[in-house]
Amino acid sequence: MEVLGIDVGGSAIKGAIVNTLTGELTAERFRIPTSQPATIDETVETVCKLVSHFSWKGKVGFGFPAVVQNGIVKTAANIDKGFIGVDINKLFSKATGCEVNVLNDADVAGYAELKFGAVKDFKGLAIFLTIGTGIGSALFSNGQLIPNSELGHIYLKNGKKGEHFTSDSARKREELDWVTWGKRFNKYLIYLEQLFYPELFIIGGGTSKKLDKFEMHLETNCRVEAATLLNNAGIVGAALLA
Ligand code: BGC
Repeated sequence: MEVLGIDVGGSAIKGAIVNTLTGELTAERFRIPTSQPATIDETVETVCKLVSHFSWKGKVGFGFPAVVQNGIVKTAANIDKGFIGVDINKLFSKATGCEVNVLNDADVAGYAELKFGAVKDFKGLAIFLTIGTGIGSALFSNGQLIPNSELGHIYLKNGKKGEHFTSDSARKREELDWVTWGKRFNKYLIYLEQLFYPELFIIGGGTSKKLDKFEMHLETNCRVEAATLLNNAGIVGAALLA
């Protein structure tokens, strides 16, 4: 079956048609940059442009950078605050005329990694982390997603919020080198490890391509793997969970 997967990000909205049996993209990915943060109107307009680009009439799955519970946006850490309380399923389905399902961006990306990535079918407790503007997380136990975990918002022992201390935007904002950032990220992982005792961390987002630059600073007891679907994980997972 084919489903259009759309990944709503902090600075762009990307989409592609996905074969949900193989996880492969059947049409080339299309990316439209947006303002940072984009207003509700701009987001809806951009989503509609993507749907028209693919002349799509079928199901659409979305990854959205917030807690989304039963179709309602509950948080807005890095997006327009006006999204809080919006029935995003209703908004996107009305605007596109398609059947839609909107879920948290990290949840869908993590799901794609567990279905089609290098850690395919991992059964133990796994924590997927996507390092970008914020830090998104997805928890899996026995391959089952426990939705809407917000581990980027955990306060570390130094009083700082995880995503403010060690996101990719923190690295850029504070011009941290990989050694300094890697040591910060290590503190964050160790703290999560003490709280959840996972058997695997999967690191996603653009930073996962740079794992070789900081993995020597990671001192967790559990396995740490880079995500393998990279930029397409959000699109693929959104389509799979539609
Ligand atoms: C949001 C999460 C989201 C993550 C990655 C965080 O700031 O609270 O819901 O998954 O950013 O986009």
